[in-house]
Amino acid sequence: DTSTAVDLALFGALGDLALRKLYVALYHLDREGLMADETRVLGLARQDYDGDAFRARVRDALESRVRADERSEESMTRFLGRLEYRQVDFKTPGDYAAIAQWRSDSSLPLTIYLSVPAALYGDICSSLSSAGCLDDASRVVVEKPIGYSLESSQEINDAIGAVFDESRIYRIDHYLGKETVQNLLALRFANPLFGGQWNQSHISHVEITVAETVGIEGRWGYFDQAGQLRDMVQNHLMQLLCMIAMDPPSSLDADSIRDEKVKVLKALRPIDSERLNTDVVRGQYIGGTIGGKAVPGYLDEEGANVDSRTETFVAFKTEIQNWRWAGVPFYLRTGKRMPEKLSQIVIHFRPQSHYIFDPDQRSMATNRLIIRLQPDEGIALQVLTKDSGLDKGMRLRTGPLYLDFHTAFPSARIPDAYERLLLEVMKGQQYLFVRRDEIEYSWRWVDRLIDGWESRDMAPRRYPAGSWGPVSSIAMITQDGRSWYEDY
Ligand code: BG6
Repeated sequence: DTSTAVDLALFGALGDLALRKLYVALYHLDREGLMADETRVLGLARQDYDGDAFRARVRDALESRVRADERSEESMTRFLGRLEYRQVDFKTPGDYAAIAQWRSDSSLPLTIYLSVPAALYGDICSSLSSAGCLDDASRVVVEKPIGYSLESSQEINDAIGAVFDESRIYRIDHYLGKETVQNLLALRFANPLFGGQWNQSHISHVEITVAETVGIEGRWGYFDQAGQLRDMVQNHLMQLLCMIAMDPPSSLDADSIRDEKVKVLKALRPIDSERLNTDVVRGQYIGGTIGGKAVPGYLDEEGANVDSRTETFVAFKTEIQNWRWAGVPFYLRTGKRMPEKLSQIVIHFRPQSHYIFDPDQRSMATNRLIIRLQPDEGIALQVLTKDSGLDKGMRLRTGPLYLDFHTAFPSARIPDAYERLLLEVMKGQQYLFVRRDEIEYSWRWVDRLIDGWESRDMAPRRYPAGSWGPVSSIAMITQDGRSWYEDY
């Protein structure tokens, strides 16, 4: 399974994402023999570096981020040998000649990776085009956030679309690159056991939690304009929701999958004004303790504006208004400064309709499927069994059937999301990338909620760092006679 050769031009080559993730991912692809021999990488940034200084910087990044047993001088040298650097001011069209010059002897398809603020995407695309760098085989990879509303995302997508056809645009949502997220496709569509149960006749409700322990250290300026709803829900949580809720695609090709995801987004019930007090909770962390360490509140972080009402937590309840899901609530929550880093989906099945055991145990008599995305990737299915012991009669207990990926497949390395995504870009496959209409339907839903908050002038509720969010997010689910699932 060898990828096709490309010339990869990386804008923002000395930025945080590149140094933290992209070179490490490319290095692993190379080391595993998944990068064609001819593939070359051109780093582009404003800094006054030359090729040697650039390679030295990338070497440092690799040495601090790749495990020692996955590094060898041979594979490092081989990878670094692919790298070149050009100093470019992205707003100066004349500077793009450097890219054309790098490409002058090459017939490989050009892949542009934009790891820069979205406000620059339009200028970069049009300058690339005017400098004659692009042809029908060129591709572009863009990072989130694509805008902060439907309208701004349309402007950005129009600017990219003026130069690249949709079939050449790879919009990254790195959650789709996570091995465990792709596993949702296998779990749902390869296992008849689950396929037949995956609907409102058998499932009572679904929970999705994406919790992080990090706060907004060091990136307050960006985050405060966005907030958790735009930063996490509009993209990552919506994608998880789609992967859980979509109908089976007719094949694994990109448009079959994306068509099904779009149908989910179209059917997602909006949170309109009468639901703002009951179906959604926004929160902002105050100081607290995580893992025994005191951490500051959002408004005490460096660079903070004391009046900010930006949310760092959001929980909501929604429904997908279609045949498969009518009447099944989906509870979602995501926040910064939670007690642990945890991404997990819990499918709660309906109770047995004809129940013959101890009436006192009736409420526990249900199955749950817990899908742990990170950390400790795995799946647990909770089943009811008889409690052993002569004195127990026919008492029930709940026990898990576990599939822990690290134990079940000990030799398999779980690749980072960016390894998978970069590999798919090089192969020219789009099924793990987000199509324009997905982004737009998601923004419509998000914009409507934000309009509601703004028109009511609603402030976020406080929650201490190290807690599971404002108490009202617990009440939101307990008032339905349920609770957030916490044990794995
Ligand atoms: C990013 C968000 O897209 O995802 C960050 O901008 C967030 O705020 C990050 O921390 C979470 O990603 P992961 O892979 O650590 O769950």
